[in-house]
This record gives sequence, structure tokens and C-alpha cells, in this order.
Amino acid sequence: MSGPLILGLETSCDETSAAVLKAPDTLKGHVIYSQDEHILYGGVVPEIAARAHVQRIDDVVDRALAEAGCRLSDIDAVAVTAGPGLIGALLVGVCWAKAAAFGLGKPLVAVHHMEAHLFAPSLENPDAVPPFVALLVSGGHTLLLHVPEWGTYHWLGQTRDDAAGEAFDKVARLLGMPYPGGPAIEAAASRGDAARYRFPRPMLRRNQRPGDDDFYDFSFSGLKTAVVTLVREIEADRQLEPEKEDVAASFQAAVVDVLTEKTMRAVEEMDCPRVLLGGGVAANGRLREALSKRLEPDGVLLSASARLSLDNGAMVARAGAFRLGRGEVASLDASPDPNLPFPGLMKASA
Ligand code: KG4
Ligand code: ZN
Repeated sequence: MSGPLILGLETSCDETSAAVLKAPDTLKGHVIYSQDEHILYGGVVPEIAARAHVQRIDDVVDRALAEAGCRLSDIDAVAVTAGPGLIGALLVGVCWAKAAAFGLGKPLVAVHHMEAHLFAPSLENPDAVPPFVALLVSGGHTLLLHVPEWGTYHWLGQTRDDAAGEAFDKVARLLGMPYPGGPAIEAAASRGDAARYRFPRPMLRRNQRPGDDDFYDFSFSGLKTAVVTLVREIEADRQLEPEKEDVAASFQAAVVDVLTEKTMRAVEEMDCPRVLLGGGVAANGRLREALSKRLEPDGVLLSASARLSLDNGAMVARAGAFRLGRGEVASLDASPDPNLPFPGLMKASA
């Protein structure tokens, strides 16, 4: 089956990425440039991210095309992340995509960043298709969905404050670890004792019932505060350094517990033992392990490799192929939207 050749662009945060995809799911070329300009600042600086995208995007696209063995003129459609994300960063990808679509006389496809994360595992595993319960965990979002089919997204819960990845980043910073915090915490945690400290499991009470507001919702800011309090106590009394790995492991265990428990609630209530794990935090080995274990013996965990779990252009091209297949073409005067609503998202009937 030979579908259109799609160029996918991702510039919503701090990865500049381009992919060439033969629709629906054959990846021909893929380049991800992770901006290291932000390391100095301990977090993404929006203005620096936008500038770095401008400086890199031509080269990133050229390399993806070269890897695919084709030229820009061979492309049949241009898909781009139109939101959510940082407005200056999004503008770079969207303007580049609009110019290319106009110049080529080919369709422009606007892609929602979190819907793209949903499609990432299907690039590596043909079985990673609905129905599934989806846990999307990134630096900006924590979302629990039930997905009966592509394009129909039943909203179950979300974070009420910090996203899961944001909590990793903030705790890492507190412990003096580099940005992004997730990989740093995971590495430190692998050498620490997760039972050393007992952190709260926010929004997780045994007597919660389906239909309760907080049954599927998450909250990570109280957990971060608990870590801050503990770190201050330790520092007032002794050196933090020898206990850092235990703090990281205990914090990670609390996050993994909450994410796993809430997801398993959805598995049970939706009677759907297939779980798709997406977004940057999906790269966390402990989270994958915990979910896989809880899904045994009949369930299945669908997740992408770390490379495709983190922000990338391939998932944008893949989601773009789906939207293009439905005839959803964006206008050439489309603008990015930092708060773009999730397409097809509806409140699940309890
Ligand atoms: O999806 P993503 O690449 O960008 C956004 O859309 O936000 O996710 C980035 C987030 C960061 O907060 C980063 O710390 C987190 O994913 N992350 C991890 C790991 N690798 C990345 N969190 C936990 N464990 C990891 N191994
Ligand atoms: Zn992302």
C-alpha cells in the first residue's frame, strides 16, 4: 500500500525535529535535534527555544530528507505541531510548514502535540492501535483517556496542577541535578532506596469511587512540596549528598504508584486491559515495569522506545497522516495555538 509522503515538523518546546513518513506508518527519515542551550538555565527558556528552532530547522529538515533519499519537491503534505506548546517555538514550525506547503502547492496539516504522542507507539508496533486506555505523561500534560478508536478520545482525568514530567524536573532542580530532570532522577533512583522515605500519594484514597471528581485526576504539586520540606529538614541537620539517591528513588516511587494506580482504575472501569503509555515520562523504566507487571497476565502495555516517546517529528507525521486521511487540511492562514484543544476529546460517560 503506497500512501502519501508526509513531512512532519515538531517545534513546540525544545526539540527541533523533522521526519519523512510514507503514510500511514513507514518512517523513511527522522532527525531530532535536542536543544542543549537550556542546560545553563535549568529549564526551557522560551525565547532561546524559538531562536534555536530558527537556527536549526532548515538543517534538520534537509537531513531528514537526505536520510529518506528524497527532495522537498517529492513531499505530498506537510504536517506540523500547531499546539499546545510555547508560542514562539510553535510559530517557527508553523511558519516553516506554511511556507513549504504554499511553495509546493501541497496540503498543510495541523497536528495536536498530545494526539501525536498517542500515535508514537504505532510507528514501532503495528498492534499499538485502539482500543486502549492511554496515559499521556509529558513535561506539560498528564492525561488519562479511553480511546475506543483513533480520533475519539474519552477524557477520564488530568493533573490539577503540575504535570508528571514537570514534577520530575522541579525535584531534579531541587536536588541539584541537570535539566531535563526525568532521566537524572531515574539514574539516581536506580542507586537509591525507594523505601527510605514515604512520600504522599496525592489524590489516591482507597474510598474514592468512579464518578468522584478526583477518581482519575492527578496532583503533583503537593508531592513536590513534601520533597522540598524533607530536603530542608535534611539540610538543617546533615549533608544532603549521601541521601540524594534515596530521595530521588522515594519520589519516583510515589509518582509511579499514583500513575499506575489511576491507570489500573481506568483499565478496570473501562474493561480494557490494553494500556498505551505516551509522552516523555513514558521513557521511565520503573513506570513501564510497574504498569507491565500490573497488566499481567492478560493485559498489554503499548509504548514506544525512548527516542519516540520524547518529542519528535515522526509522531507528528504519523498523526498528520491520520488527519490527512480524514480530509482535514489546515488553511494557509492558520495560526499556532499554545492552548490548542485536543481534537475529538469528550467527557467519558461514567
Ligand atoms: O513529551 P516530552 O518530550 O515534552 C513535552 O511535551 O513536554 O516530555 C518531556 C518530559 C520532561 O519533563 C522530562 O523530565 C520527562 O519528560 N522525562 C522523564 C524521563 N525522560 C524524560 N521523566 C521520567 N523519567 C524519564 N526517564
Ligand atoms: Zn511532548
